[in-house]
Amino acid sequence: MKKPRALVTGGAGFLGSHLCDALLGEGYSVVAADNLLTGRLANLEHLRNDSRFELQQLDINEPFDVGEVNYVFHFACPASPVDYTAHGIATLKVGSLGTFHTLDIARKYDAKYFVSSTSECYGDPTEHPQKETYWGNVNPIGPRSVYDESKRFTEAVTMAYHRYHNLDTRIVRIFNTYGPRMQLNDGRVIPNFTKQALRGEDLTVYGDGSQTRSFCYVTDEIEGFLRLAKSVEHFPVNIGNPTEFTILECAQRVLAVTQSESKTSPKPELCWAGSRRLTWRQACACRWIISVEQLTSSS
Ligand SMILES: NC(=O)c1ccc[n+]([C@@H]2O[C@H](COP(=O)([O-])OP(=O)(O)OC[C@H]3O[C@@H](n4cnc5c(N)ncnc54)[C@H](O)[C@@H]3O)[C@@H](O)[C@H]2O)c1
Repeated sequence: MKKPRALVTGGAGFLGSHLCDALLGEGYSVVAADNLLTGRLANLEHLRNDSRFELQQLDINEPFDVGEVNYVFHFACPASPVDYTAHGIATLKVGSLGTFHTLDIARKYDAKYFVSSTSECYGDPTEHPQKETYWGNVNPIGPRSVYDESKRFTEAVTMAYHRYHNLDTRIVRIFNTYGPRMQLNDGRVIPNFTKQALRGEDLTVYGDGSQTRSFCYVTDEIEGFLRLAKSVEHFPVNIGNPTEFTILECAQRVLAVTQSESKTSPKPELCWAGSRRLTWRQACACRWIISVEQLTSSS
């Protein structure tokens, strides 16, 4: 029997490269499409001699075609605040033009479609916890809007292809994920703390460190993607770790794991960072349990 073939856009990135590994493990042959804007060839080095894997270096904001595929996973998009601030226009383009191009590929080959969205769709939420049914509180012209609005448009056009073209789509709203292959300088908390701890520098904590976050280990997050991919759920699904801890606790844990003698160094709070980004604990946990049950029964 012919192997199913998957397209992973953003396949040279942090999550995309782990997804390529997981899909190969599931028996797919995989074509990754990436322009290396924020991704790295090193993330795919281990697949170089795998005949089931191929990388095509291309910009998905231009029309493209990688041949017949059975599943499209659209993960291309600068994701860290450092990256989407540096590449604001490219971020808006990949969420709009790039998303259209990937949806058209899925339509052309009658493939299933899976797109990565984000908890940032909720903006600075006024509802806690945030259920998937919450529409968010997003500043459409602020510095973060290049990312938030790009992803909200991505969701809108994906739902439109589902409704108007009957495309078989999935949308995941990803919450903070960490693990190997993250960029050390992307400004996100765990790589930043780890880098500072290993270099013996003080760990920069904005504000009093009482703001809470949760972080999901990458293999758990990818497992969630695979279950959602096999499900029949078309509305967005939050996937992340429901357990929160404070930034200060996170810093202390990094210091313990790295056995570093660094201290924490307080800095004034970032005006747009948000005090409690991941306040979806109960609702999300509930939804996640429902989703897992659905996903398991449909796989
Ligand atoms: N990492 C997280 O915690 C997190 C959280 C929420 C959402 N997400 C979403 O998951 C996806 C992947 O995030 P990541 O952390 O792996 O980011 P990443 O920057 O490591 O990967 C993104 C990849 O997309 C590629 N890319 C960007 N524009 C492109 C274009 N026009 N054509 C081809 N390739 C292009 C980059 O080169 C890179 O390899 C993104 O859509 C992001 O919004 C990630």
